[in-house]
This record gives sequence, structure tokens and C-alpha cells, in this order.
Amino acid sequence: MTRDAVSLIKADHRVLERLFEQVKQAEPEDRMRLVTEIEARLNAHSRAEEEHVYPALIAADPDERGEVHHGAEEHLEAEELLTKAKESTLNFTGKFQKFVDAVAHHIEEEETDLLPALRKAVAAAELRRLGEQFDQARRAHLAEAGIQADVPEQVTKEELYEQAKAADIPGRSSMTKDQLAEAVRKS
Ligand SMILES: [Fe+2]
Ligand SMILES: [Fe+2]
Repeated sequence: MTRDAVSLIKADHRVLERLFEQVKQAEPEDRMRLVTEIEARLNAHSRAEEEHVYPALIAADPDERGEVHHGAEEHLEAEELLTKAKESTLNFTGKFQKFVDAVAHHIEEEETDLLPALRKAVAAAELRRLGEQFDQARRAHLAEAGIQADVPEQVTKEELYEQAKAADIPGRSSMTKDQLAEAVRKS
């Protein structure tokens, strides 16, 4: 079951959020390894969005151009804040929190504005194709950063339901996960 671009991006947001929590709980000597992983994952995620997802949204809905540019600026801002935290010898915690807050704000904007706009503007099959492009680009960038192991997580029933709702599949609320997957695949 291929996840569409919206599901994949949201799932990757959750991966980043889990890593943020791990940094907060880590011993100082383990922290840098996690921060380096976050840096690689965030860069791979943002570049893949900028290369495939953002242009697709602008093409499908030119009114979103401003929001898309704003999103790309926030990617840059987050990267700068993470570099500052990484390089700080004093007050890592405060600087890392600033970075986390900026990313949380960006994720919220994407999930409440850009991604719903994308789902609305792009047909389901195109959204799945875009998901493949996003994922391939993201993995290629991760590989460049030396992160090979990136086991895809299972698609959840909630994600399938969201896709079924977007495709207006009748009877979706009483379907099992397998039935939802089948109906979404055929849509
Ligand atoms: Fe994102
Ligand atoms: Fe983003």
C-alpha cells in the first residue's frame, strides 16, 4: 500500500517529533548523535518537500504560492536555529527548544494549511505519485548524509480513513483497515 504525499509527510513529522523528545531526555554525551540525525532527517524532509511537493501545490493552486514561499523560509530558519544549538557550548537546552518551537510552528502550518490545500487541489492518484517522489528524494538525501536504515512504518487505519474521506468513498466509516486500503487503492 503506497502512502500518499500527505500521509508520508505527516508520518515523517511524527518521526522528527519523537527524536526531539529523545534529545530532551538524552544524556549530554548521547545528544550530539541524535542532533546530527535530526539535522539529516529534517534537511532530507525539507528538500524533498521543496523539490516535489511545494512545486506541485503551486502548479495545482497558484493561490498557495505565498504560503509555499513562507514554508521554504521556515525551513531555512529551522536549519539556522539547529546550527546555533549545535554550535552552542552554553545553554544548549534553551537554543534547542527555540529550534523545536520553530519546527512545531512550521509543522502546524503545513498540517492545517498546505497539506489540506494539496489534498484538495490534487487528485488521489497524483497524490500517491507525489508521495513516491517525495519518499525517493527524502531517502536519497538521507543516504547522502550517511543514513541508510530507514524502515518504513506501516500505514495506519487513520491515514487510510483520511484518504478514503478525501476520495469520498461511501461506507468508509464501517470498513476494516484492509477494506479501506483496497477501496483507496481502487479510487
Ligand atoms: Fe513537512
Ligand atoms: Fe516543511
